[in-house]
Amino acid sequence: MEVKTIGVLTSGGDAPGMNAVVRSVVRTAISLGLRVMGIRRGYNGLIDGDIFEMNLRSVSDIIHRGGTILYTARSPEFKTEEGMQKAIANCKKFGIDGIVTIGGDGSYRGARDLSIRGIPCIGVPGTIDNDISSTDYTIGFDTAMNTATEMIDRLRDTTQSHERCSVVEVMGRNAGYLALQTGIAVGATAILVPEVPFDIDKDIIARINKTQISGKKHFIIIVAEGVGNVNAIAKEIEAKTGIESRATILGHVQRGGSPTVRDRVMASLMGYEAVRLLSQGIGNRVVSFRGDKIVNYDIHEALSMEKGFDYEMYKMAHIISI
Ligand code: ADP
Ligand code: F6P
Repeated sequence: MEVKTIGVLTSGGDAPGMNAVVRSVVRTAISLGLRVMGIRRGYNGLIDGDIFEMNLRSVSDIIHRGGTILYTARSPEFKTEEGMQKAIANCKKFGIDGIVTIGGDGSYRGARDLSIRGIPCIGVPGTIDNDISSTDYTIGFDTAMNTATEMIDRLRDTTQSHERCSVVEVMGRNAGYLALQTGIAVGATAILVPEVPFDIDKDIIARINKTQISGKKHFIIIVAEGVGNVNAIAKEIEAKTGIESRATILGHVQRGGSPTVRDRVMASLMGYEAVRLLSQGIGNRVVSFRGDKIVNYDIHEALSMEKGFDYEMYKMAHIISI
């Protein structure tokens, strides 16, 4: 099928670099002679018809900005057949022949459902969690790790002055990818992730005691949000070691800020690839980063993939932080 007009939307949790994808999509499409329609607030905009034509200047001055100029949302209505039909009717009304969806696995499921009903979609991975199985990298991950690292470096100063233990919760939904690499970057004494079962006495208290013997006086413990309550963990550490402990939840600060070079470049490449596919009439695919290459997969296949966890990296992190 010939594609003349494409839509672009951002969906699910925002991630730094989403704007750079939108910029790449708009500029690539226009260079190929396509029209581009911006869809606001994810699938909600498709249902409500909150859709506008974009031009080369609609995406000026956004490559360095966090958040998303298209806004984002979670749309429960889109999961219903009625919501889906409203979305399809608006695609017809606005002449949208294909859509680039920037978001996580949930957004991919929405893209799959639209594709099944005849609107070709291409998924682009945008989430700070790096938890999408079909890709080694998701846009926003690098920026979020750098932001978390900068915050924890500040925390280290006060933790060191007071000779305390800081227990820090980082985001990641049910995954520990963000926690693992941030933990390595800040030299955490211990890193807790949902992928690896842990025992507080053995994996935290004993490690703290061991490092105390060689002279360590302050401690940073990184906890992925999917693991549990950082306040309870801090209390338990204080009770069992006598070291004053504080819990810090970094929260949504990790989702904001100017994207790093890696996120800007990855976003630009992936947006370009998404439009390249749609312009050739190819839909129902997701753009991914594998090894050191941008590739693409069938959307159904992508959603059935499993993502591994790097246990060797996890082991290494604990060997060098003792
Ligand atoms: P993310 O894309 O970051 O994983 P969500 O899981 O919240 O975020 O999904 C974003 C949106 O994608 C949802 O609000 C919904 O509109 C759509 N979506 C999620 N799951 C499905 C599904 N199974 N079928 C259709 N649409 C879905
Ligand atoms: O998926 C990105 C993410 O920031 C997760 O790390 C976190 O669990 C979730 O979104 C938070 O969602 P909300 O913005 O709805 O609080």
